[in-house]
Amino acid sequence: MKQWLKQPYHGYLRNRDLREETEITEVGPGTGGGEYLRRTWQPVALSEEVKDLPVLVKLLGEELVLFRTLKGTVGLVEKHCSHRGASLEFGVTTNDGIRCCYHGWHFAPDGTILETPNSPKNTNRTKFCHGAYPLHEFKGIIFTYMGPPDTVPDFPLLDTYDDYHDEDSQLVPYSLHYPCNWLQIAENTQDPVHSCFLHTSISGAQFDESWGVIPVLDWIKTPLGMMNVNVRRWKDNVWLRTTETILPNYNQAGAFWEQPNDEKAFQRVATTRFFRPIDDTHTQVMGWRFFNDSVDPDGKGDATEVGKDKMDAVGQLDDRDRESQQREPGDYEAIVSQGPVAIHERETWVDTDRGVGMMRKLVRDGIRAVRDGEPFTSLPAAVPGVVPTFTQDSVIKRPPLDGLDDDKVIQEYGKQYAQIVIESAKANPEDRRAYLQEQLDSLYIDKL
Ligand code: FES
Ligand SMILES: [Fe+2]
Repeated sequence: MKQWLKQPYHGYLRNRDLREETEITEVGPGTGGGEYLRRTWQPVALSEEVKDLPVLVKLLGEELVLFRTLKGTVGLVEKHCSHRGASLEFGVTTNDGIRCCYHGWHFAPDGTILETPNSPKNTNRTKFCHGAYPLHEFKGIIFTYMGPPDTVPDFPLLDTYDDYHDEDSQLVPYSLHYPCNWLQIAENTQDPVHSCFLHTSISGAQFDESWGVIPVLDWIKTPLGMMNVNVRRWKDNVWLRTTETILPNYNQAGAFWEQPNDEKAFQRVATTRFFRPIDDTHTQVMGWRFFNDSVDPDGKGDATEVGKDKMDAVGQLDDRDRESQQREPGDYEAIVSQGPVAIHERETWVDTDRGVGMMRKLVRDGIRAVRDGEPFTSLPAAVPGVVPTFTQDSVIKRPPLDGLDDDKVIQEYGKQYAQIVIESAKANPEDRRAYLQEQLDSLYIDKL
C-alpha cells in the first residue's frame, strides 16, 4: 500500500512490505502477462546472431534453441531433447534440421522428428513432435509467435517500413540488453516530459536543445494502443509530435535530433522497437534504427554504431563506466535503476504521469480480456497487409498572437492535431502526406 511519511527524518517508519504489480509484469508461461504477450509476434534474435552454431535463447520465460539449417531455414525448438533431455544448444545443424549431440535424434525446424538413429526401426517417432514455434525473418530480425497454434496472426507490416513509405530509409537492426522488467522500459516512451530533464537539463543536451522546452502533453487511445501528443512552442513555430505504443509491447519514436526550425507535415520514425521480455527481470530492446535525410538531416546518427549491444545515442545500454553513467545518465540508467521490477506502490504520481497510468490500464485490460477468452484486437490492418501507424512529427509556423494565452493556444493545437493524425490513418497510404499537409495548412487558431 502507498504510504506517506509525514515528518522529516522519518525514514525508519517506511513500510518495507511493498509488492510488485505482478498481474501486469509477469511474462512466464501460464501467467496472465505471458499469455497476453504470446498473442503477438515477438523478436527472438538478430539474423546475424544465428550462424552455423545453435543459439540458446530465452523468451517469455522459456528457454529455447534457435538454429539455422545448412539450407538456411531457421528453427526455434524446445531446449531439452525429446529423447532424454540433452540441450539442443550442443546439437549439430544439418541440411534439414538439428541433430542432438547425445544419441543423434534429428529434428526439423517445425518439430517433426526425422530420425531416431539409436533405435532406427522405432516408428513411434512419427506419432509425436518436438516442441517448436513458427518463425518469420524480416529485415535482419527473426520473429516468433509463441501463442495458440490455431490463431497465428499475420506478421504485422507497419506502414513506416521502407517498402510502404514514400521515403527511402536504411533500416539497421539492433538489440540492447536491459536487466529489468519490460513494462518500465515501455512506460518510458509514454513519459515524454523526462526528455526535458534526463535528456536536457540534467545530463546536458543529449539530443537537441529544443527538447528542453516543457511540452503541453496529452495522451489518447489509437486503434493500435495509445500515443502521446507533445506540443512545444519553438520561436515562431509550433512543433507537434506523437509517439505511439502498439500493444502489447511495440513502440515507434520520431527523430532523435529533431530541430523544429523548418515546417514539415509528415516526418516519420527514427526507430521501431520491441521490448522483448527474456523473463520477469530481463528484457532485450530490439528493433531498427531508421536512417534517412528526413529524420536526421544533419547526419548526427551513425549507422555503424547501431547493432548487437550498440546504439548511436548516449545512455541507451550498459556501455559506460559508473562515473560516466552518474555524470551523464540516460534512459538506461534511469529505467534500470527503478529496480528489476519497478514497484508501483512506491510511486508518487503527478499529472505528467497520466500516460504511464493509461498504458498500465491498457495492458491490464488486455491481459484480462485474453484471460476471459476474448480475441486480441491490436494490429488490425486497414489495407491488406499494411498497418497504418501513428508516430510522426509536424512543424507549423504560427507566431504567438497578441492578446491570446499562448499556452492555451498550444494546447488547442495539440488537441486538434491528435484528431488529424488519427483521421489521416484512414486515408490511402499514398494520399496520407497530402491529406496531412492540407489539414495542417488550414489548422490556424486565432481565438479560444
Ligand atoms: S538426449 Fe537427445 S538423442 Fe538422446
Ligand atoms: Fe528517453
